[in-house]
Amino acid sequence: PASTRTPPDGGLSVGGVALAELADRFGTPSYVLDEDEVRARARAWRTALPDAEVAYAGKAFLSRAMVRWIDEEGLGLDVCSAGELDLAAHAGFPAERIILHGNAKSPADLATALRLGVGRIVIDAPGEIARLAALVPPGCRQRVLIRVVPGVEAGAHAAIRTGVEGQKFGLPVAGGEAEEAVARALGQPRLELVGLHCHLGSQITSAGPYVTAVQRLVALLARLRDRHGVTFPELDLGGGFGIAYRDGDPALDPAAYAPRVTGELALRCARAGLPVPRLTVEPGRWIAGPAGVALYRVLAVKTTGARTFVAVDGGMSDNPRPALYGARYTVRLAGRTSRVPARAVTVVGRHCEAGDVLAEDVPLPGDVRPGDILAVPAAGAYHVSMASAYNLVGRPPVVAVTGGSARLLVRRETTEDLRRRDVGA
Ligand code: LLP
Repeated sequence: PASTRTPPDGGLSVGGVALAELADRFGTPSYVLDEDEVRARARAWRTALPDAEVAYAGKAFLSRAMVRWIDEEGLGLDVCSAGELDLAAHAGFPAERIILHGNAKSPADLATALRLGVGRIVIDAPGEIARLAALVPPGCRQRVLIRVVPGVEAGAHAAIRTGVEGQKFGLPVAGGEAEEAVARALGQPRLELVGLHCHLGSQITSAGPYVTAVQRLVALLARLRDRHGVTFPELDLGGGFGIAYRDGDPALDPAAYAPRVTGELALRCARAGLPVPRLTVEPGRWIAGPAGVALYRVLAVKTTGARTFVAVDGGMSDNPRPALYGARYTVRLAGRTSRVPARAVTVVGRHCEAGDVLAEDVPLPGDVRPGDILAVPAAGAYHVSMASAYNLVGRPPVVAVTGGSARLLVRRETTEDLRRRDVGA
């Protein structure tokens, strides 16, 4: 990822600021986001798909600044809770460019979405149709999409594969459940069904699965036209675009995705005699991930048996991805150079579990010692947003860098913050 560049002093920097300086100023563990990189990556999707709607998936990382950048770059926003909606609203994001998702939307999620006037609500289950319609005020119509399951297996790990039957999201195309839900939604005068949605999974690195999804969805659109006499103006293909966590890992290229997917959509629609719906894509990780770096300080180094453990001041509370998905990362020494040859070490966190491993068998200079700063690139997505306060270790701060200067976006969670929530006695 472009987010860590090696300056002449051998240290590492982001957005023109040395990582060691950031670690000293904001403490560790901390997360650094390169604002220019976030914006450039958002623009890359807008450039690749100029006629489509690009909605950033806020679950990857959300803060008021992030919302503002996404707004300024002309993207929409995909949210999945009243919390994300509230943050977006407070950051001034236009509600009509918001899409609400969720397989189990709470009354608060729906009430907030309707109060703010979000552009789309994605229906995930038949039971949601009448429930949502009953909440829409008389005389109003809420635009909705129906999430369908095209039966395409894609994604890096079973926990993040959502394009196949047998997982909790959406309504299968095969077997007619999707079609039944469409008929039901069409019968609700307070809902305006504008199209279909699907999300195949995450960390997908080629366009192939999306092309297959387009084929199945257009076939469904043709059946819906034949049987129900309807055509839809929109088609949302979700996100899931893969990034390189380590040098040499494959990544999805929007410039390669765009022509294949729009080409297939145009072709299939022409053959079926359907109008070409406007495409929506929902990249999350692809925009935020490579723009972020996690900074840790080494607390302990221990060699037991054949293994050397380098323990840092964060771990699975700020990055649960290795434990959850077997995710692999690179780790770099920041703040000083070392001439000592690299050896394979296991970088572990500070939490009370043997599974609290950040990176197994990664090369680091042989003289890595307590006090050293370690940087983990590609940390901008699904780290902070999935962070917990396990072991009552507060969640880390988020710092933005641009044009050689840094500012705090989200402050560190202190032990006092944690104690304040504990209101019983
Ligand atoms: N749209 C929908 C409906 C989604 O459910 C998701 C992700 C996205 C878009 C964005 O996907 P992305 O482009 O970021 O892959 N915690 C996991 C990833 C879970 C993704 C959940 N849904 C991880 O750390 O790998």
